[in-house]
Amino acid sequence: MQPTEMSTERRSPASSWWREAVLYECHLPSFRDGNGDGIGDLEGLTSSLDYLKHTLGVDAIWCGPFFRSPLLDQGFDVSDYCDVEPVFGSLAIFDRLIKHAHERGLKIIVDYIPNHTSNEHPWFRESRSSLTNDKRDWYVWRDPRADGSPPNNWTSETGGSVWEWDETTGQYYLHSHLVQQPDLNWRNPQVRAALFDVLRFWLDRGADGFRIDVAHMLMKDPELRDNPLAEGGNDNPFDLQHPDFGTQLHVHDRRHPDTHATLAEIRGVVDAYPDRVTIAEIEAMSWQDWALYFGSDHDGIHLPFAFRLLETVWTAADLRRELSALYAALPPGAWPVLALGNHDRTRLVTRLGPEQAKVAAVLLLTLQGTPCLLYGDELGLADQSVPRERQRDYFGLAEGGVSRDPTRTPMPWNDGVNFGFSTAPEDELWLPLSRVGATVNVVAQQQRPTSHLALYQRLIRMRVASPALHQGTIDLLDPGGSDGDGSVLAYVRRCERDVKAVALNLTGEPTTVVLPSAGTVVVSTSAAIEGQRTGSHTRLEPHQAIVVDLPQKDEWP
Ligand code: NOJ
Ligand code: CA
Repeated sequence: MQPTEMSTERRSPASSWWREAVLYECHLPSFRDGNGDGIGDLEGLTSSLDYLKHTLGVDAIWCGPFFRSPLLDQGFDVSDYCDVEPVFGSLAIFDRLIKHAHERGLKIIVDYIPNHTSNEHPWFRESRSSLTNDKRDWYVWRDPRADGSPPNNWTSETGGSVWEWDETTGQYYLHSHLVQQPDLNWRNPQVRAALFDVLRFWLDRGADGFRIDVAHMLMKDPELRDNPLAEGGNDNPFDLQHPDFGTQLHVHDRRHPDTHATLAEIRGVVDAYPDRVTIAEIEAMSWQDWALYFGSDHDGIHLPFAFRLLETVWTAADLRRELSALYAALPPGAWPVLALGNHDRTRLVTRLGPEQAKVAAVLLLTLQGTPCLLYGDELGLADQSVPRERQRDYFGLAEGGVSRDPTRTPMPWNDGVNFGFSTAPEDELWLPLSRVGATVNVVAQQQRPTSHLALYQRLIRMRVASPALHQGTIDLLDPGGSDGDGSVLAYVRRCERDVKAVALNLTGEPTTVVLPSAGTVVVSTSAAIEGQRTGSHTRLEPHQAIVVDLPQKDEWP
């Protein structure tokens, strides 16, 4: 195979830590319980830093929300931005987390949730108290239409209208998510100033950056026009929410062009502190749309999540098409952040099966871009249904709603009580334990060279040691596989003298791939072939992925 014309000879990335880092998404209530109440917390995370740094080898931890919250949406419903929810710890414990993380060279990324607060936030309590309250305009309030119906047709991610009638003042307020999550009015300068102060509060305490929740939603159409109906079906590939949400095209309630100037302001606040990073959740429909979030002249988000990849159908042809479009859309000098799963989505093993989940690990950790893996994926943890009486996610409790709890079950650490997650009685745990935790746990997998964890460890070590992988260019190879059947996704990563070829068999059939040259297998889903020489015509076993060390290009045949 020869590299195709879409070769990305972009300028070599600057040396910012976040370009070369491996990110790890921890979901705090499900990660490790430090005080025995059954709920994961900052104490538990702090005691897991050696695992993250030394066993796994990641560089930065995105903590998941931990601000004060009634926890109806896992902490994405904030009642105080400048304090820690007591269930998760305290400011002192956060400070200790930062200290211990920094001592180990680990970065801490804080979840910043600017689009909405909890209805229990004092700002909202004040806002709803009267039409003339100072904070009335901090949220989006509107009169009903003449017939008493809501001001427009926008549908919420949790079903029904985004408008909730408030008896006290006789107006509706806007909530893009739960009724208990009123949207802030980012067109109000006082709101902006208050939310910028929140950034400074955590930056001053040593946060290394933020993951910005629904960053594409901060600015809405100022006229609040109706969304068009999705007559031909909703084109939103990210739509995993309530079916009501998908009945319309969400063109006026999100991705408003004014959002970019707002994100540039956020970036300005963060940039006043050296070496910090902004990572953002961006549900963009197209790669062109996504690329806008880097800002004009890089004044936007450092790392906007490339969520389309997360939705891509798992075939070589689909992945190749999307990756090719992603890299083609990437503005010069920009660097993507890539994830194949997160706390809102079906886990990799459930979506792809255990064997392809390993292929996915090879993909994620060898692409050009900062990889972000979800806690538990390094063990091959699967989704697990959660009985209604144990559900935590209010999104799932609404009629017709979709619960994200199955993705968020506790991390299994060992085969002891509650698989090492907590010492509390099982029925008091945040969510039920994984049924397979007795074998799918950190300790058990450390002892098995063929485990998911062992593969992740080898991949991360290889990535750290290889400039081609953590900072090099990428050239997608022509569609590959036996008889050009498209069973293989393959690419070459390059940085000066370091050259790596990656070939992934996305099927359960054996196939062959033609690489630009012979080389040596460095890491594979089959540990046994690591270190072996391979010709340029290479056989791939079913579900097999290989990373091959190649000679420099001028030595290729
Ligand atoms: C996106 C988050 O990822 C999701 O978990 C949350 O429910 C919504 N934003 C609302 O904050
Ligand atoms: Ca706890």
